[in-house]
Amino acid sequence: MTEGILTTAYIAASILFILALGGLSHQETARRGNIYGIIGMAIALIAVIASEFVTNYAILAVCIAIAAVIGIYVARRVQMTQMPELVAILHSFVGLAAVLIGFASYLDPTTHFEGPDAEVAKTIHEVEIYLGVLIGAVTFTGSVIAFGKLSARISSKPLALPARHWLNLGLGLVCLGLGVGFVGAEDTGSGLIPLLVMTIIAFAFGIHMVMAIGGADMPVVISMLNSYSGWAAAATGFMLSNDLLIVTGALVGSSGAILSYIMCRAMNRKFLAVIAGGFGTAGGAVAAGGDQGEVIAVSAAETAALLKDAKRVIIVPGYGMAVAQAQHVINDITRKLRDQGVEIRFAIHPVAGRMPGHMNVLLAEAKVPYDIVMEMDEINEDFPDTDAVLVIGANDIVNPSAQTDPSSPIAGMPVLEVWKAKTVVVMKRSMATGYAGVQNPLFFEDNTRMLFGDAKASVDAILASV
Ligand code: TAP
Repeated sequence: MTEGILTTAYIAASILFILALGGLSHQETARRGNIYGIIGMAIALIAVIASEFVTNYAILAVCIAIAAVIGIYVARRVQMTQMPELVAILHSFVGLAAVLIGFASYLDPTTHFEGPDAEVAKTIHEVEIYLGVLIGAVTFTGSVIAFGKLSARISSKPLALPARHWLNLGLGLVCLGLGVGFVGAEDTGSGLIPLLVMTIIAFAFGIHMVMAIGGADMPVVISMLNSYSGWAAAATGFMLSNDLLIVTGALVGSSGAILSYIMCRAMNRKFLAVIAGGFGTAGGAVAAGGDQGEVIAVSAAETAALLKDAKRVIIVPGYGMAVAQAQHVINDITRKLRDQGVEIRFAIHPVAGRMPGHMNVLLAEAKVPYDIVMEMDEINEDFPDTDAVLVIGANDIVNPSAQTDPSSPIAGMPVLEVWKAKTVVVMKRSMATGYAGVQNPLFFEDNTRMLFGDAKASVDAILASV
């Protein structure tokens, strides 16, 4: 393949990636966006494979075959509820790849810089390597911890080490000093030591950074690690002088940064406060649960009667709907009630579930019409005029203590004000807390009814009665 064709293929792939990101920003165009992304990635792969950079097709074929088998196996096995943790572990691979490529690139005996600007070119190359390994190492261990927290292998409670901010600052300064030693090193042998030490520190920093994040702030961390993985890929692109990887990495890095900003706004958090960790934990201890009075239980038949009598209904889905896979039956209930003249809309909190857009994906999969799926800002003022709210497996996102208890880990986070409706029915299996680990005063309100049980069984029973 000539260089001209390769460049054209890279430009085509880059444009398709931009179109993919544009498409993914709206539900109606998300499918098309996905297809653009697939075509872009296919072009990129074919172009790289056919380029002169690949010299050993046997090794490449074996690697692709192994990766394809693992990829197909994981994709077929993964449950929808495991998607957030899968995304986290995939980010970790990008980070690890950046670390390994950084070391390989530094140790590559064929790398030589010649000509009048050789010294400058060598310094730039070393800075690329150092930054790529640093970002990659933080992304790797941070994503592994995020995987552990999202899959409940590690507690979602923040680890609040004493003087953790000083510890972070100290680690940052040590990495800076090591960077100066690395770039000024006489030869590869003496440069390798600061690079190795920095990598170990960056691994520790990634672990500490994510361990210190409270459960409710995980959405920001996920989008932040997404952004880091993009910058790690871009740094790898610089190391390998691959323009497509630079562009793609920058696209992922900047879109992840925008997503982090959106998530911070949704949670009313300051970005630096979140990554500094332990936010809103009032001295390090997460506010405990505990009963706050009597709750009023309700049956599925009573819930169905309430819904049929209502003029306006809002459904609030949360993580429990994903666990129960209740979205299809909810769509059936919605259709039936709408046929009977009930106005139904869905209220989506930006951090409902365990990944950005989690609820939108599930509702789109169940074919709920897009025009009745509203964002929090669009619908939050309508609860006082609503007859019945159905909360399906949501907890933190409808917790009024975010507004009333400044010591709560979710203090200040905007929530869906469901308690302002005439009646609220909350479907969950027990009185267990949500992801942030705090009890929810909503359950004890006079206008709240608890429909206990698995959400799928509950909605099946409601469907039979509406
Ligand atoms: P949660 O606060 O986690 O509450 C989910 C509720 O669903 C639980 O209280 C649970 O109660 C119930 N549940 C679980 N399985 C169920 C089932 N099969 N049937 C019925 N109910 C079930 O979820 P949320 O309200 O969606 O809030 C999301 C939380 O996750 C926030 O704290 C957010 O910060 C955090 N988070 C979000 C993200 C993103 S990006 N969206 C990422 C990481 C973390 P029972 O056990 O009693 O049934």
